[in-house]
Amino acid sequence: MTQKIALVTGAARGIGLATTKLFIEEGWQVAMVDRDGDELAIAVDGLDEAKPFVYDVSIPEQVTEMIAAVKGAFGRIDAVVNNAGVADFGPIEETDFARWRRVMETNLDGVFLVSQAAIPSLKETKGALLNIASISGLRASTLRVAYGTSKAAVIQLTKQQAAELGEYGIRANCVCPGPVRTKLAMAVHSQEIIDAYHDAIPLNRYGSEREIAEVIVFLCSERASYVTGQVVASDGGFDSTGVGLPALRT
Ligand SMILES: NC(=O)c1ccc[n+]([C@@H]2O[C@H](COP(=O)([O-])OP(=O)(O)OC[C@H]3O[C@@H](n4cnc5c(N)ncnc54)[C@H](O)[C@@H]3O)[C@@H](O)[C@H]2O)c1
Repeated sequence: MTQKIALVTGAARGIGLATTKLFIEEGWQVAMVDRDGDELAIAVDGLDEAKPFVYDVSIPEQVTEMIAAVKGAFGRIDAVVNNAGVADFGPIEETDFARWRRVMETNLDGVFLVSQAAIPSLKETKGALLNIASISGLRASTLRVAYGTSKAAVIQLTKQQAAELGEYGIRANCVCPGPVRTKLAMAVHSQEIIDAYHDAIPLNRYGSEREIAEVIVFLCSERASYVTGQVVASDGGFDSTGVGLPALRT
């Protein structure tokens, strides 16, 4: 049987690294893409079924080169996980254009660019696109004018991709993680935010990288062969609940 190849962006740590490890456990090989070369070198060490690719997903020329390098190394691409992301929480009035662009260029442009460049390869394999958005793309919140808007756009981009690429056998799905204690989250989650999340999440806790990876890898696999255009929140129930729940708790 042909070994499948997953390309995972933002693979040097956090959710991307956990996803890489789970793909390998399930028999895939992984192209690990990240712009942080030092951290990527540490992450790939000991992962025999993975290769590192140091590229920035927000720069069009680098994305073109990256896809060619991955194709050159592995010969095929069966799944693309657009996971690389940055978080920047700030009030609307303090979000100038440079700050807005810094978020958009990775979180939205990066997903668009990597997907576009991978389409010819995914046509060959009838492969899968998997985009990582966030609960911040499903529910609005304070301080997330750029981050939340970028993630809501990723949700819609996924649906556009599913609608148009289905005829080639390419599936496109989106995972919206709830809070996970990664470097990205801990840089913007104060103790107050952590407590508030616990109150608002029915399962009453943060998720783990592995819990998010399980959903990602399932949606990329043959087990999800009739699933496309879907947005799945892996969030402990945060998205499904309304206001008032914490006050009703015992
Ligand atoms: N951790 C959470 O609570 C949470 C919640 C919802 C959504 N998410 C989303 O999950 C994804 C992964 O987040 P994480 O928490 O694992 O973050 P992380 O900061 O631990 O890892 C992100 C990785 O992406 C890389 N990266 C960032 N910009 C890049 C670029 N332009 N090109 C290439 N690599 C780049 C970073 O170097 C880093 O290794 C992100 O899209 C994030 O928005 C995270």
